[in-house]
Amino acid sequence: MNQVDIAELYRQVKEFCEHDTTGHDWWHVHRVTQLAIHLAKHEGADVLLVEPAALVHDTDDWKLKGGEGYPNATLILKAAGYNSKQIADILGIVVQVSYKGAGVDTTPRSIEAMVVQDADRLDAIGAIGIARAFAYGGSKHRPLYLPHLEPQLHQTFEEYKTAQGHTINHFYEKLLLLKDRMNTATAKALAEERHRFMEIFLEQFYREWNFKP
Ligand code: ADP
Ligand code: NI
Repeated sequence: MNQVDIAELYRQVKEFCEHDTTGHDWWHVHRVTQLAIHLAKHEGADVLLVEPAALVHDTDDWKLKGGEGYPNATLILKAAGYNSKQIADILGIVVQVSYKGAGVDTTPRSIEAMVVQDADRLDAIGAIGIARAFAYGGSKHRPLYLPHLEPQLHQTFEEYKTAQGHTINHFYEKLLLLKDRMNTATAKALAEERHRFMEIFLEQFYREWNFKP
């Protein structure tokens, strides 16, 4: 086993995503990593793989970079002392994490990928999830809401990736579906309260939108 420097990994990732304003900033990565470690301990996943996978899970995200492969994660992991086999194992988890549309099956195969995906999804719902959705929508110049557009559920990754909606639609195409798609019991329990909060938010949002004096 070669020596890895986990403190160096944290330092590199922090430096990499410090200036993001699309909801994929260092604090997102930090929250996901804390949640992933918590879930790993409860679900019997290998923390030595889960922690680095959570740390690099968004450094090559398709929404931000649009490119193939994991060049950023590979460099960062190498710099922290991980060898090729370890990097392959970690990226094998990362590749299973991302959401690709309401009708697209992205069920992870290993318990390590399950907990990292659950952690990432817990940070996409609840109060923080709402804040991130509007931050991301703003970064893509999307309107908050267009009442004449019915909720759309995409059946392919291509459709989901290229869709041009308003941010309220993101609740229907993704956020409200996540509670029932959590992989682990620990994450399911944590998702309940966050899910309820989004339902309350939407009710209030429509009430204010449809205000009649
Ligand atoms: P994933 O890879 O599963 O999308 P991320 O960690 O990259 O997970 O999180 C994506 C973040 O960006 C989430 O908070 C998500 O709600 C937000 N997001 C993605 N697509 C949209 C969209 N079309 N409108 C608003 N927010 C979005
Ligand atoms: Ni993420």
